[in-house]
Amino acid sequence: MQARSSAQDSTCKQRTTLFFSVRDEVGALDKCLRALKAANVSMTRIESRPSRSADPGYDFFVDIDASDKDLVQRVIEEIKQIKIVQDVRFISSLGSQQLPHAEQERVPWFPRKMTDLDTFAEKVMEMGEELTSDHPGVNDVEYRQRRLEIVQKAKAYRTGQPLPRIEYTDQEKETWKQVYTRLHEMYPKYACREFLHVFPLLEQNCAYGPDDIPQIEDISRFLKDCTGFTLRPVMGLLTPRDFLNSLAFRVFHSTQYIRHHSDPYYTPEPDCCHELLGHVPLFADPNFAELAQEIGLASLGASEEDIEKLATIFWFTAEFGLCREDEGIRAYGAGLLSSFGELEYALTEAPEKHSFDPSKTALQKYPITQYQPIYFVADSFRDATAKLRDFNATMRRPFQVRYNPYTQSIEVLNSKDKVHHFARSISNEMQLLTSALELI
Ligand SMILES: [Fe+2]
Repeated sequence: MQARSSAQDSTCKQRTTLFFSVRDEVGALDKCLRALKAANVSMTRIESRPSRSADPGYDFFVDIDASDKDLVQRVIEEIKQIKIVQDVRFISSLGSQQLPHAEQERVPWFPRKMTDLDTFAEKVMEMGEELTSDHPGVNDVEYRQRRLEIVQKAKAYRTGQPLPRIEYTDQEKETWKQVYTRLHEMYPKYACREFLHVFPLLEQNCAYGPDDIPQIEDISRFLKDCTGFTLRPVMGLLTPRDFLNSLAFRVFHSTQYIRHHSDPYYTPEPDCCHELLGHVPLFADPNFAELAQEIGLASLGASEEDIEKLATIFWFTAEFGLCREDEGIRAYGAGLLSSFGELEYALTEAPEKHSFDPSKTALQKYPITQYQPIYFVADSFRDATAKLRDFNATMRRPFQVRYNPYTQSIEVLNSKDKVHHFARSISNEMQLLTSALELI
């Protein structure tokens, strides 16, 4: 399932991701870029974050166009020569053969098939194997060891394997119980209709309850039956691009570790309480699933500027979205449905509430460490999806894509043949629709 064929590897252009840490010195990055130039490869993407190992310094993820292993090895050796660089690593290498050459030059790499998501396994922006200094578990050796054990399973996971099952400890179950019990009491008053419809189904089918933490393998199977969404384990926070790209495949990355037991009502990072209570229920709703996938499809090959806009839209919908119902405004965002304090606050008069309008929502600035001062209210998931489609049509991208659920791959509609094939399949569907309507 996971190995790419050697024929593909040898004939198509390769997109290789490298990782390295650099000490913070004047001209540090310059030296690394010169090394890439010396090896005669072009860089197509660069992402940085404050370094965990080179302190003070930065970790870099760099995508390069490289055609063979020898060349990649030469690049690694060139970078290793630089004294301020430490921990140079090869992360992944993937083909990018579907777009014409000119488009490859300006379009950021994006996954085309499910196995391409394997490349995200070790690419996390924050947390992952390390914890930031504000994490309540940062000085608890036992907690860190346990978290590392769980994270290693996510790191090793590859497409097609069963999702890791975690035997949770009594202490972890107790933390879950406290969070679950308190939120469960609040949902009838604050959660949206769709969430309240799905939650009992999760109790019946996926062992949701206060006494144990549900397993993502069971949840993933349930979601697949409902909407085709599946879960994948993840080490920590993915880059916005990688995270959104996965949604195009109806894949949601879920952490499996739980927050520190010293403060069950606080976590500085997504944990299984946030994912399983906040996010999972709505991925079982067909209309929400469509909205989430629409964001994902728009993110494939999008410019950095557009990725930022789409990540902001995700923030104000899937994370902190509100929606209008007959009884009043309710919450559907996971950041709200997994936080007692903000769930209550969001539905008071205190914060501003605006109607969801992607062109405005995409530009709204927001804080990440305090309650949101502004929320966006959707009329319905279908309405939000329709507005999002109109917005996406205004984004600049030199090609169109669609997800093929049969092959679980992304099709780039950039040739007459592909568009004809697509038109034929729509025509067949229309015939089926007409015949079904005649029978009703
Ligand atoms: Fe989230």
